[in-house]
Amino acid sequence: MSVAGARPNFMKVAPIVRALHDAGHESVFVHTGQHYDLQMSGTFLEELELSAPDFNLEVGSASHAKQTARVMERFEPVIEQVRPDWVLVVGDVNSTMACALVTAKLRPVLRCRLAHVEAGLRSYDWTMPEELNRVVTDRVADLLFTPSRDAHPNLAREGLEARATFVGNVMVDTLLHQLPRARAADMPGRLGLTRGAYVVTTLHRPSNVDAPAALSVILDALHRINRDVPVVLPIHPRTLKNALAFGLESLLRPLRVVEPLGYRGMLSLCDGAGAVLTDSGGLQEETTVLGVPCVTLRVQTERPATVTDGTNRLAPWPLTGDGIVDSWRAAMASGRRAVGERVPEGWDGDAAIRIVAALNAGDPCA
Ligand code: UD1
Repeated sequence: MSVAGARPNFMKVAPIVRALHDAGHESVFVHTGQHYDLQMSGTFLEELELSAPDFNLEVGSASHAKQTARVMERFEPVIEQVRPDWVLVVGDVNSTMACALVTAKLRPVLRCRLAHVEAGLRSYDWTMPEELNRVVTDRVADLLFTPSRDAHPNLAREGLEARATFVGNVMVDTLLHQLPRARAADMPGRLGLTRGAYVVTTLHRPSNVDAPAALSVILDALHRINRDVPVVLPIHPRTLKNALAFGLESLLRPLRVVEPLGYRGMLSLCDGAGAVLTDSGGLQEETTVLGVPCVTLRVQTERPATVTDGTNRLAPWPLTGDGIVDSWRAAMASGRRAVGERVPEGWDGDAAIRIVAALNAGDPCA
């Protein structure tokens, strides 16, 4: 049973569902419905060739406690009905942790086991909801599939190394599979942009977008960059809602603000960008594989391999207008790499196959 809930989960689940199918396993796909808008969910399922979910829990948006509780309440009867050998949860969203807890508590009764895909990432920033989700999920999972070698010391520190298996990055499976179709979609051309001569930005972290001061520093910097090259901002619903509530429309207006894009459109847009400025985790990895310079607008990253091996850099913290603009200039000056050049080990398109092989090797009812 594979579980996805929010936008960044779908590209991680898609190659796993496909590899399970190819290996002849019976596989059930559960969507918690944490994300539900067409642009945040429906488009992704279609483009990623994920069949309609076998179960949609339709939990929607709510406070952390309510959303987590709703997923738990609605997931419990599903797992009791299906009685899977394995439950696979991916990433670090509320749905990941909620389903992990339910599975772990039912383990003695149902004799099912839990695997966490993208295990061992740590920001050591306890103000991030995702950090809590990661730590709890890893603690209760039977098998920890890591995307990069740097996850292993983190797990060792928590006494979890024995459960860890290095498999590489499933997001990259999806990226390499979809890149030809993404390029054919030619999103830069459709938006009238010149390849290499525009910036793509995404923002949605509560620490960046939930307070007027933080959001206005970033939008102001984008405004300045936009005087040199067009800045395209596919806007997350949370960010749009807050920018309007804080009266920051005047900073948004000069930017190329577009609705959240589907997977292929976003991949095509980032592939053609001169640089990407983001607070997303996934985009730090995707830009590294695409060879596009990335500036991460966060105090730290739980994906350090994107900085040491890849094309990512952190803007100086605390964020300031000058700091962001200077980092962007340095990123542009660093230039592009070829797709797949100098990527971390295991970011090769075969991570899902390694996951299924590891599941085959384990005894589901041990
Ligand atoms: C969630 C994840 C975050 C991930 C992000 C990707 C958690 C704690 N956070 O954050 O790790 O990087 O998804 O997008 O799980 N909304 C809509 N339509 C939707 C979904 C959300 O309008 O389909 C709006 C609602 O106003 C909602 C807000 O976005 O209240 C936040 O949604 P939520 O799922 O709580 O968290 P994200 O900020 O999307």
